[in-house]
Amino acid sequence: MKLRHAFQAVFGSRRRRDSAWYEIAAAQGERHGFHVYSPHMVWKDQPFFRKGREKAAGVKGIPDPRSFVLQSCIRSLANVEGDVAECGVRQGRSALFMLAADERPRTYHLFDSFAGLSSPGELDRRPDGTLGWKEGDLSTDEALARGNLAAFDNVSFHVGWIPDTFPAIADRRFALVHVDVDLYEPTRDALAFFFERLQPHGMIVCDDYGSARCPGARRAFDEFFADRPEGIIELPTGQALVTRRA
Ligand SMILES: C[S@@+](CC[C@H](N)C(=O)[O-])C[C@H]1O[C@@H](n2cnc3c(N)ncnc32)[C@H](O)[C@@H]1O
Repeated sequence: MKLRHAFQAVFGSRRRRDSAWYEIAAAQGERHGFHVYSPHMVWKDQPFFRKGREKAAGVKGIPDPRSFVLQSCIRSLANVEGDVAECGVRQGRSALFMLAADERPRTYHLFDSFAGLSSPGELDRRPDGTLGWKEGDLSTDEALARGNLAAFDNVSFHVGWIPDTFPAIADRRFALVHVDVDLYEPTRDALAFFFERLQPHGMIVCDDYGSARCPGARRAFDEFFADRPEGIIELPTGQALVTRRA
């Protein structure tokens, strides 16, 4: 840490303190292999993002940059009709961000066992043969998730194992589908069910595509889109997104 930054971080004006703390955090981030967003990035100041942060305060789940990507996707679909589906809800954090940003009235279908992850399979093993997850990881109190989303009357919970819970919405069409179940099988099953139910120009986002803990999710996406015209856009947040062709 540079002495000048340390001094300004404590004794500087408000503006200099902020800037000094950014320099300190960015330098530490660089040393340890992660990125600290600089203050001139405006995404953190967008009103819909601030609203999402307020609503999701204290709710555990995906970090801010990934939440913002979901908000950005749903806002880009303001002229596309259709419901939203989320596979993997946990405490409801990502759902809260999408709901806070959506400009259309839509139904949100939320799928989760609330008993945590299903059993990982062979395709979820990392290159060294180990598994990043075990059955039951990330289990959540269903009442907590319902409570976090209680303010929204356009939310419908589908509690149970994926894909057993899908047939109830077989006649619906979707603008956005968020897949965040960490494992090969439920990711594969979500793609098989939802992709053909996406509206033209609708989007499907995978939270886990770039995570070294979730090789099965990436494999499921790569296999599904291998011989389709839609390409996978991989993001530095670890997410991937695909837009359905018209
Ligand atoms: C990473 S968490 C979801 C995080 C959430 N999107 C957020 O905002 O932070 C994964 C969730 O997927 C659920 N899940 C995993 N496999 C499942 C399956 N086969 N059926 C139903 N739910 C499953 C888990 O219970 C867990 O809540």
